[in-house]
Amino acid sequence: MRRPFIAGNWKMNLNQSESAELASGVASAVGDLTGAVDVAVCPPTVYLAAVRSALGDSAVGLGAQNAYHEESGAFTGETSVGMLADIGCQYVILGHSERRNILGESNEDVNKKVHAVLAGGLIPIVCVGELLEQREAGQTLAVIKEQFQGSLAGLTADDVAKLVIAYEPVWAIGTGKVATPEQAEEVHADLRRLLETSYNSDVAAAVRIQYGGSVKPTNAAELLSQPNIDGALVGGASLKPDSFQGIVAAAAELASSN
Ligand code: 13P
Repeated sequence: MRRPFIAGNWKMNLNQSESAELASGVASAVGDLTGAVDVAVCPPTVYLAAVRSALGDSAVGLGAQNAYHEESGAFTGETSVGMLADIGCQYVILGHSERRNILGESNEDVNKKVHAVLAGGLIPIVCVGELLEQREAGQTLAVIKEQFQGSLAGLTADDVAKLVIAYEPVWAIGTGKVATPEQAEEVHADLRRLLETSYNSDVAAAVRIQYGGSVKPTNAAELLSQPNIDGALVGGASLKPDSFQGIVAAAAELASSN
């Protein structure tokens, strides 16, 4: 079984002291569970260093919400992978639907970033997901395939084995409208098949595919019990230690019963 991975995407929320408080709250709330589950928090870039020190020697990992693909130079406002590694990040969320749909990131942009993050020794969490109108038009699997192929273009099987994929249906993000376990599993199984046909069966067996979109302690267990759902990328419910802990606990319980 793949080791579950629960990550909190804090998005553009909280201030410095709230970020440090949440990080230490999460570290103590999930401390006992990190033997069975990988856990990470992804605060706003400006608070990464404060969160790193608040996490102390906890096993909770640190992720950024974005990175730029160039190493350094005249790129005003951007943050390189080397800078993120330097302050202790292990993960970088890439291609989140908010960056694709609000900030206009293309598959090509995401692809350059995936290459840069892997080259810098960090783990990309590559997000894919369809809009409501695409789902209603029966285009979900085609959209996912296009994002998968575009975002991962030019990677070797060894590269792909290192990354994490997050399926986040856009209509389920921040809406309280969670995908049913069957809807999510259909796309996760399809992503697993894409990993196998595009790379090989070892890669397909190894890569963790998180689900994201209105995950809460009350719906986490049924989502995570699907065979191809290996974790969660959590927005709103990651902003409170209790609710985030509830999701990590659901993952830990499933891991111990398997
Ligand atoms: P919510 O959990 O708030 O729906 O957000 C999901 C998400 O976008 C995580 O990246």
